[in-house]
Amino acid sequence: MRFFNVFMWGLVCFFHMSHSFKGVMAFHKVSKHLQNIKATEISEDHRTGYHFQPKQNWINDPNAPMFYKGIYHLFYQYNPKGSVWGNIVWAHSISQDLVNWTPLDPAIEPSESFDQFGCWSGSATVLPDEKPVILYTGIINEDPKPGYQVQNYAIPENYSDPFLTKWIKPSDNPILKPTKETVSAFRDPSTAWKLNGEWEMTIGSKVDKLGISYLYRSPDFINWTLVDHPLHQKENVGMWECPDFYPVSTTSDKGLDTTVIDGDIKHVFKVSLDLTRFDCYTIGKYDTNQDKYIPDEGMIDGWAGLRYDWGNFYASKSFFDPSKSRRIIWGWANESCNQDEYVRKGWAGIQLIPRTVWLDPSGKQLLLWPIAELETLRDQNVQLSNLVLKQGDKVEVEGITAAQADVDVVFTIPGLDKAETYDTKWDEIFPTETLAENICQIMGTTVQGGLGPFGLLTLTSKDFEEYTPVFFRVFNTPNTKRKVLMCSDAMPSTLNNQEYKPSFGGFVDVDLADNKISLRSLIDHSVVESFAAGGKTIITSRVYPTLALGNNAHLHLFNNGTETITIESLNAWSMKKPQMN
Ligand SMILES: *[C@@H]1O[C@H](CO)[C@@H](O)[C@H](O)[C@H]1NC(C)=O
Ligand SMILES: *[C@@H]1O[C@H](CO)[C@@H](O)[C@H](O)[C@H]1NC(C)=O
Ligand SMILES: *[C@@H]1O[C@H](CO)[C@@H](O)[C@H](O)[C@H]1NC(C)=O
Ligand SMILES: *[C@@H]1O[C@H](CO)[C@@H](O)[C@H](O)[C@H]1NC(C)=O
Repeated sequence: MRFFNVFMWGLVCFFHMSHSFKGVMAFHKVSKHLQNIKATEISEDHRTGYHFQPKQNWINDPNAPMFYKGIYHLFYQYNPKGSVWGNIVWAHSISQDLVNWTPLDPAIEPSESFDQFGCWSGSATVLPDEKPVILYTGIINEDPKPGYQVQNYAIPENYSDPFLTKWIKPSDNPILKPTKETVSAFRDPSTAWKLNGEWEMTIGSKVDKLGISYLYRSPDFINWTLVDHPLHQKENVGMWECPDFYPVSTTSDKGLDTTVIDGDIKHVFKVSLDLTRFDCYTIGKYDTNQDKYIPDEGMIDGWAGLRYDWGNFYASKSFFDPSKSRRIIWGWANESCNQDEYVRKGWAGIQLIPRTVWLDPSGKQLLLWPIAELETLRDQNVQLSNLVLKQGDKVEVEGITAAQADVDVVFTIPGLDKAETYDTKWDEIFPTETLAENICQIMGTTVQGGLGPFGLLTLTSKDFEEYTPVFFRVFNTPNTKRKVLMCSDAMPSTLNNQEYKPSFGGFVDVDLADNKISLRSLIDHSVVESFAAGGKTIITSRVYPTLALGNNAHLHLFNNGTETITIESLNAWSMKKPQMN
């Protein structure tokens, strides 16, 4: 039920403002009594078919992704003993195609004085002569919360082993210790780059509410010294986790190694904002004279700025893949339900489909798109074209496994003059960082506009008791600029009222001059990852249907706006199950 009045706007607004910045430590909920409970039975209901998951237990951040001697490596934060956060080690899986995965033994586990209470996130750098090094955060004491943090390094035992099976932690660790101010806020070393013949890397931190990306320099990758100024910092945003700093080409969609620091490039600076749990980025310049990152004019630095994904996506890490000259981003999605539910299910967390990233030709944002290899899983195919959708129409896409699918649609809209008028009051009552989400929340798919809502109803139960809509609304604004809103709404996704069901939203920066907009959704049982306009705006939702499960899930196209929409083309595929750990 949606209440569409100013009173409700007030409430929604109050709710969002009150939870948006509390200045508290978010991090992971610590539940000592649940950390070592290993499930004997794994609940399959919401397990994904083609997303990265271990067989069981808790996972969080992807770590140190890299390509080495023909093999892709993914490490990730993992609890070997249970399905809530705790006992964290670096689990390790390998792949030749980023789609099929084989597990190896954990690469890094607590064992030494410099990491005995935890081996937290970090990154890999491949040094000259193909010598990979991992930098990671070690926890040397559980106090103060969330732990006393130092930085360590690890190297392969055998460089000839393409699987990098065993890692050594040299005895000169730790290589960096925090200052008094940052003992429990000093983590997630980045991949390094080179400036004036020396290595540099950055580490996430904060002092009070100031987000800081500390800069370190080293001639040999072992002896690191703090540079007298940070790479970047920003007031009032809280802890910066998992900083990622890399070049993007201004002339090509090919990716670049972090060692490229000049030429036709811009730099991207991404942080995971602990307080709001979103991955935000700016595009700017790496000023190599000052050795500082400077966001481009007009970039918004903080949670009102650009995001890789406007939904459930966090702690991402990118790497350069030299074999295909591309940069790829991995991100983690947690479960929405509570910890007792994780224990019952025996697993929690997935890694999202890796996304190739490059600079949009406008230079004002990035584009992210699922890696091409994912298409090898495409199976049964259904195509539609020139299908007209009138107001209220719902058309089922039959002939594929709707719970495990890849769907690519191009919508054609009639003249833009029929779009509804954007209510400028929204700009006053909703905070900028939740504006899109708030409009999605109050309007859902039931408030009928001119152009939209139209899009997909994913994971639909037979009689529409449950559905996860992914859709657009087009608005005209007083200054005639178009506003295109994309929503991925978990609110109607399940009859289970215990779930967290956010109505995620983001604006899509398109002018619709050709009257077309595309949408691709990767649907996988409990996750829907959707890419608008070729990767301009992306939203991931985790959802937990009770009826729309397995073969009982359906997929529909819908239009609930007054104007008729045409499906110019639709291509949908059942997705095969890869080898998954
Ligand atoms: C190192 O790895 C290579 C390739 O797998 C293997 O042939 C060699 O025996 C290994 N060396 C040692 C000392 O284990
Ligand atoms: C580490 O680097 C600093 C600064 O470059 C230098 O003063 C110091 O001697 C180095 N220490 C070692 C053990 O190499
Ligand atoms: C995980 O799930 C909860 C809902 O319980 C959400 O509020 C939280 O911010 C999520 N994301 C991360 C990255 O922890
Ligand atoms: C379309 O709008 C009508 C009227 O609000 C509503 O009853 C119906 O459920 C909507 N369709 C969808 C798919 O939400």
